[in-house]
Amino acid sequence: MPEFRTLDDLDVRGKRVLVRVDLNVPMKDGKPSDTTRIDRVAPTIDELARKGARVIVLSHLGRPKGKPVAEYSLAPLAPALEKSLGGRKVAFARDCVGPEASAVAAKLQDGQVALLENLRFEPGEEANDAKFAKALAALGELYVDDAFACAHRAHASVEALARLLPAAAGRLMAAELSHLAAALERPERPLSALVGGAKVSTKLALLGNLVAKVDSLIIGGGMANTFLAALGYQVGKSLCEHDLAETARAVLASAAARKCAILLPTDAVVAAGLEAGSAAHVVDIKAVSAGEMILDIGPRTAAALAQHFEGCRTLVWNGPLGAFETPPFDAGTNVVARAAAALSKAGKLLSIAGGGDTVAALHHAGVAQDFSYVSTAGGAFLEWLEGKELPGVAALEAAAKA
Ligand code: 3PG
Ligand code: MG
Repeated sequence: MPEFRTLDDLDVRGKRVLVRVDLNVPMKDGKPSDTTRIDRVAPTIDELARKGARVIVLSHLGRPKGKPVAEYSLAPLAPALEKSLGGRKVAFARDCVGPEASAVAAKLQDGQVALLENLRFEPGEEANDAKFAKALAALGELYVDDAFACAHRAHASVEALARLLPAAAGRLMAAELSHLAAALERPERPLSALVGGAKVSTKLALLGNLVAKVDSLIIGGGMANTFLAALGYQVGKSLCEHDLAETARAVLASAAARKCAILLPTDAVVAAGLEAGSAAHVVDIKAVSAGEMILDIGPRTAAALAQHFEGCRTLVWNGPLGAFETPPFDAGTNVVARAAAALSKAGKLLSIAGGGDTVAALHHAGVAQDFSYVSTAGGAFLEWLEGKELPGVAALEAAAKA
């Protein structure tokens, strides 16, 4: 667990506090279609306001690439944030630096909140530019980073800024890091990881780090096919990275050497193609034919995984087990997610999930609320699981030592 200051270490009354959050939420018709990330940072902003801080909220939205793009304006998020804050007013500045940002910041009274325009409208943000970071720092006296979901980005508001002002982690940042630490750094064992999703190539570093840490690794989704093919099974027309067979065998050998059990599907739901309602049937994993695609784990595998969880104390979940967006290929993910959720709810399992698709799959299964902890992060969650240093976290640690 990294060492950093928290809100408990800051005296914020009457101070202008820059709070970096991740309001990178999905938008539809000019409104956020999912407010999870807004709701999860609201307690930090609210706490600062209640303590008499003058709160200046910083965020990015989308990838506008250093210039203003109307569809990525944060303006529609000011009313959304007001709602999450239980009606507390949020002023908006149409720029994140410059005269309007300074004027809005200067006008704030104790306990008031302002949101500044998208940081990524300025090229200095993604460039981690020192001058841009200084311009941001000039707006406030203290810095709070509550944006775990962008801690993997060495951007100015996340990295350089943390070195210019007294810096602390917000409540969400601290919660994310402490749950991840509970899962991988000092877990109650047996510890299992479930890794799904389409491609082995995007999760190689993840698999490599996990086999060194977990007692069992469950591999599902399209990436399981690459392992199955590497072991000599026929996978028909399934998504499969045949060129990674050698890599997959190396992961298996490393797992064996470290006594990490690998769990692969023993049966599958197959169909001629990925269309909703296409004629699907269950086959033994040894009996996939040339014209078929594996689109989900089969019921025997799902039952075995549910049973496997009964013997685990900690579970880290990243990636769906099948093509869950297209029923009936959601069945395996649903069964397994519900099993993990039920054990978590009963206090028998600590379950930590993260990643965009993963959270969507858990919501689809109707059990996200029963997991012990669901991260707000996609890429940052993955990079943390890969064992990489996150620049945003490193900057907070450095600030605590300075
Ligand atoms: C995310 O949603 O993963 C973060 O907000 C980071 O966004 P990015 O991938 O565009 O850097
Ligand atoms: Mg991302």
